[in-house]
Amino acid sequence: MQLLKGTPVAHKILEEVAEYARLHTLRLDIILVGTHEPSQIYVNHKLRQAEKVGIHAVLHHLSEHVCTEEVISLIQQLNQDPAVTGMIVQLPLPGHISEEAVLEAISPIKDADGLHPYNLGLLAQGRAQWAPATPWGIVELLLHYGISTEGKHAVIVGRGKLVGTPLALLLSRPANYGNATITLCHTHTKNLYELTRQGDIVVIAVGKPQWFSVEGIRPGAVVIDVGVHRESGKLVGDVQPMVAHVAGALTPVPGGVGPLTVACLLANLTRLHRTQSRLQ
Ligand SMILES: NC(=O)c1ccc[n+]([C@@H]2O[C@H](COP(=O)([O-])OP(=O)(O)OC[C@H]3O[C@@H](n4cnc5c(N)ncnc54)[C@H](OP(=O)(O)O)[C@@H]3O)[C@@H](O)[C@H]2O)c1
Repeated sequence: MQLLKGTPVAHKILEEVAEYARLHTLRLDIILVGTHEPSQIYVNHKLRQAEKVGIHAVLHHLSEHVCTEEVISLIQQLNQDPAVTGMIVQLPLPGHISEEAVLEAISPIKDADGLHPYNLGLLAQGRAQWAPATPWGIVELLLHYGISTEGKHAVIVGRGKLVGTPLALLLSRPANYGNATITLCHTHTKNLYELTRQGDIVVIAVGKPQWFSVEGIRPGAVVIDVGVHRESGKLVGDVQPMVAHVAGALTPVPGGVGPLTVACLLANLTRLHRTQSRLQ
């Protein structure tokens, strides 16, 4: 079984980002609302990694009691501020805040997560210059390990807008590291394991610790575990450890998809900077 480690791939991407940041001033603003603990950990990681590669990172930590309009007002200020290269709003937001309205308020050319409807629309049309960080990171991982998607059957479990849905668009586009046939599964999918057992590449992005069983894997399949959960002080994925005995290749947790998410987010910032420079 081949372990698809994300860390070396992330290092390579981060080196390129650092090289770009030596020549250009880049600033990433992160909006965090409330006290959701995993979000605080992710945000700290993004801040640290940004500073490491020479990107100025600014945290706007808002109280969980702010309303949608207050978050949008901050986004509008950042949209107008020429010092800001790009921003992200850490998800999930508290339930009373409209995620859709907040994401739509971000200027598409400052949308480092690629979650604005305009950018997702470009992705759907196969015209995107960047993609949300996690699915793009998965494509970088496959590319690094020489795992072609051409003509393969990729079964993606989870149709979330951060991972599953944009990944389905990326892997099925008519391009290098696309051209896969996609099955996108969710809670209404019947006979899930019958479908996943047909996958050459199986991606689990569901958000349930150690949920996906070895019964859902055909021997030799490539398995991408996107989940990250803390269980009894240890990080685990969405996939059960037994899967390692059947899969042909598997991403570890930690050290698989996670490092690539941060690296691709920062790489997105360099792409935004290039676009902004062209528009000036
Ligand atoms: N490693 C990283 O850097 C990274 C980055 C981002 C996210 N993540 C992780 O990736 C996972 C997915 O994130 P997300 O934001 O896409 O999640 P999400 O928006 O909550 O989506 C979860 C998806 O899983 C599906 N699902 C839940 N239970 C299922 C079941 N029993 N059978 C089939 N499908 C089921 C849901 O189906 P319905 O649509 O029918 O509800 C939904 O489409 C989470 O664990 C998250 O922590 C990791």
